[in-house]
Amino acid sequence: MTDDVRDEAEANEAQIAVYWREEQIFQPPQSFVAQANMRDPGIRERFDEAHFPDCFREYADMLTWSRPYEQVLDTSHAPFWKWFVGGKLNACENCVDRHLANYRNKAALIFVSEVEDEPPVALTYQELYVRVNEMAALLRDYCGLKAGDRVTLHLPMTLDLPITMLACARLGVIHSQVFGGFSGKSCGQRIQDSGSRYLITCDAYWRSGQLIDHKEKADIAVAQARELGQAVDKVLIWQRYPGKYSSPTALVAGRDVIVNEVLKRYRGERVAPVAMDAEAPLFLMYSSGTTGKPKGCQHRTGGYLAYVAGTSKYVQDIHPEDTYWCMADIGWITGHSYIVYGPLALAATSVVYEGTPTYPDVRRPWRVAERLGVNIFHTSPTAVRALRRAGPDIPATCAQHFKHMTTVGEPIEPNAWRWYFDQIGKGEAVICDTWWQTENGGFLCSTLPALDAMKPGSAGPALPGIYPVIYDDDGKALPRGSNIAGNLCIRNPWPGIIQTIWGDDQRFVDTYFKRYCKNPKSTDWRDWPYMSGDGAMEAADGYFRILGRIDDVINVSGHRLGTKEIESAAMTVPGVAEAAVVAVADEVKGKVPEVYVSLAAGSKADPAAIVDAVNAACEDIIGKIARPARVHVVPDMPKTRSGKIMRRVLAAISNHRDVGDVTTLANASVVDDIRRQVQG
Ligand code: PRX
Repeated sequence: MTDDVRDEAEANEAQIAVYWREEQIFQPPQSFVAQANMRDPGIRERFDEAHFPDCFREYADMLTWSRPYEQVLDTSHAPFWKWFVGGKLNACENCVDRHLANYRNKAALIFVSEVEDEPPVALTYQELYVRVNEMAALLRDYCGLKAGDRVTLHLPMTLDLPITMLACARLGVIHSQVFGGFSGKSCGQRIQDSGSRYLITCDAYWRSGQLIDHKEKADIAVAQARELGQAVDKVLIWQRYPGKYSSPTALVAGRDVIVNEVLKRYRGERVAPVAMDAEAPLFLMYSSGTTGKPKGCQHRTGGYLAYVAGTSKYVQDIHPEDTYWCMADIGWITGHSYIVYGPLALAATSVVYEGTPTYPDVRRPWRVAERLGVNIFHTSPTAVRALRRAGPDIPATCAQHFKHMTTVGEPIEPNAWRWYFDQIGKGEAVICDTWWQTENGGFLCSTLPALDAMKPGSAGPALPGIYPVIYDDDGKALPRGSNIAGNLCIRNPWPGIIQTIWGDDQRFVDTYFKRYCKNPKSTDWRDWPYMSGDGAMEAADGYFRILGRIDDVINVSGHRLGTKEIESAAMTVPGVAEAAVVAVADEVKGKVPEVYVSLAAGSKADPAAIVDAVNAACEDIIGKIARPARVHVVPDMPKTRSGKIMRRVLAAISNHRDVGDVTTLANASVVDDIRRQVQG
């Protein structure tokens, strides 16, 4: 690693987990073990390296194939892996049609409105089948969409989202769902990058007691896409309340159409699921990277679906009888894999909750869980910390009973873990701390819930068929179990791995493989370790502690934000000459971004106005989640002699850490000025 890169890495991660002491272990409750899907310790051997890649047939066998695959893994065009080569299947058929015989009348999805007076809506597999078919007919016959076309979705957490995703999948149309909380501009950028001619959105949705106008974002998105060179032919708008348009923003004649109206023409239509090549892309999921432009992570149909089905069964322990609630948003990979595709592939009942978990009060999640009989619960450490802060003694007095609880997205501190276990789980539920990324499709590290002890603060061992390695900065593999921090990589491909970055194969190779590739000409997977971008350490028992990102990515409440994206947004404010973003440890959200800006020489701008403008720019260009925790207007940035901004120094100041040796800086004196200004 060059010094510059090392500086950045240190600057961006507080490596909190390093300071957690080794924890006591917890055994899974017997009541859980007795009913678990995976109780066979032989699974580790079945999935060991000697059985790779054939071991993954076990996951592929959980699916229904229209044509059997001939080869499990083709590495001939490394690192563009091909999984289940020659096989054909349809993801929608696997999540819907094939369950009709046994589960026609069982709830597939249960929608819970944020408005508590509105009763939950259960959609049976039969009704899901009907609605997905009608929507597929609309997409095919009204929009003229066909396999391989991309369509951008910008939908909140209502049933219209999974219905639209599955309708796309039925046709082989590649969906690209943009998190509903992202701004219109963010959405427009993704429309352009994916080359979508259609935007599917909605009029409004409930969030923290407000009926939010969502349609206004569509107008901004379309304008942004057009500016970038992509025309949007039609905007399809789902109504939050069918038959009533709930947005104050006017429809654009000739462009905007109400989905609920047009759907009436397709009542009773059936669309045969298109048998797709196992390697056909199923969806794009944009994620932040180290440069300003988000990357479209492209996921394949066969391998992805097999991997999420397998991990939903063995890690989430989903049985068809379970009621499963993942509180994430479908707009993130967690929701794609573990609200929609994984649970539905297993004929589960999956809950879709519209709003803020703690609205109107912090008991709301437990009322939902009790009413629907939720027995598998999945959330983020941020949510756990927020619930604890809002009322540490409350969950234990409520009526939820879980057999299984998951955390995802960030490290969970041992004491937050124990509170989750004792108060929310009441000691009855097993916990899986699942580590993975948008690019991974599904979990990579977690305990197998009936087989492994839980160790708070550790994500657990690698899952079956995943062979991690931790490299030091010189590219040497650290000895296994050495408890030394390094760069976490996965030595082998797995079925859920990202196919490529949409439209940018080179960026795919450079981002994930370049650094540790042993031989760029090799077609042997052993030469192509996947670089996760996370720091981690492996304990003697094979459990991994995830230390956080080693690149310019900040994890805010488990959501990934690129520092460069935020800096670019800040730089759009007139008068701002330079911007630097650092990650600051936060009690609830894990990390939050703080923005430093310096003004153009001679600028007379009022600093308070600059702060407001930077906040507004971040919200407008990226979305509310990117709103900085603080904005500091500083006289100058600390810089190296070559002119590079020393983000490490700024991060140290924001986190009240020692700034280290700054004597070699070009302008060392500014450091004290900044410290006084920030720390007071
Ligand atoms: O830093 C890791 C962190 O979240 C990043 C991936 O973010 P994203 O692609 O948005 O996907 C989030 C949900 C899959 C990782 O690089 N991360 C994810 N899970 C954990 C985690 N950090 C610690 N422990 C976890 N269980």
